[in-house]
Amino acid sequence: FGRKIRYQEVVHSTQILAHEWAREGIEEGALVVAEQQEAGRGRLGRKWYSPSHTGVWMSLILRPSILLTDASHLTLLASLGVKQGIERVTGLPIQIKWPNDLLIHGKKICGILTELRGEQDQVHYVIIGIGINVNTPKESWPEEIRRIATSLAIELGGPVHRASLIAAILEELEEVYQQYMNQGFTKIKAQWEKSSGILGKSIVARTAQGTYTGIAEQLTGQGALLLRTDQGLIPIHSADILLKE
Ligand code: BTN
Repeated sequence: FGRKIRYQEVVHSTQILAHEWAREGIEEGALVVAEQQEAGRGRLGRKWYSPSHTGVWMSLILRPSILLTDASHLTLLASLGVKQGIERVTGLPIQIKWPNDLLIHGKKICGILTELRGEQDQVHYVIIGIGINVNTPKESWPEEIRRIATSLAIELGGPVHRASLIAAILEELEEVYQQYMNQGFTKIKAQWEKSSGILGKSIVARTAQGTYTGIAEQLTGQGALLLRTDQGLIPIHSADILLKE
């Protein structure tokens, strides 16, 4: 990954450039990186704070030959690869909150936004958008974000070299991706379950269908989160998760 890199000082969102590049037919593994995003996008239509020169704001283009119904596998493997990359460089213990938020001591350090285009039932291309608060100071966020977010520099008490971090993450991502393409989801699922901080915990899942409370039990083969509730086991496909520590 990262043999082709498009680097730009300021963008609206690296996702937009990555979609353009993917439509033009750029090869798998190509990466868009920016120093600042003026309109960084988060999951569920949220905004992503991307202040200048403080984070890693990047979008990776993938072209897996998989079915659209398996697309959530990519989200989960991305969280695993990014976690391993950050841990390798910083030594900080990272928790994965389903599907793909990375947390340190319960605060968000990284968000991942997976967007894809399909053709019939096949995935055509996937954009994995990765936002990491690396050297972001507390002051750059509004009050409501300060309560839920942190950065690597805040946790370590010193700055982290962003290029080294990107290199480590690309290596780890490429490895889990190869493993997935060669051997399927089973191994990734097991690794994810082992390294997520969420399984066995009491959570609240807010979905479009309603709010469910229960214990996060495991992933399904499709990457959904199985929740044990009073009404039995419920698979959660898309939700906002709240950990009830
Ligand atoms: C989330 O947790 O809601 C996902 C956040 C994803 C942010 C990254 S930053 C790089 C890429 N470009 C964007 O506009 N968003 C993603």
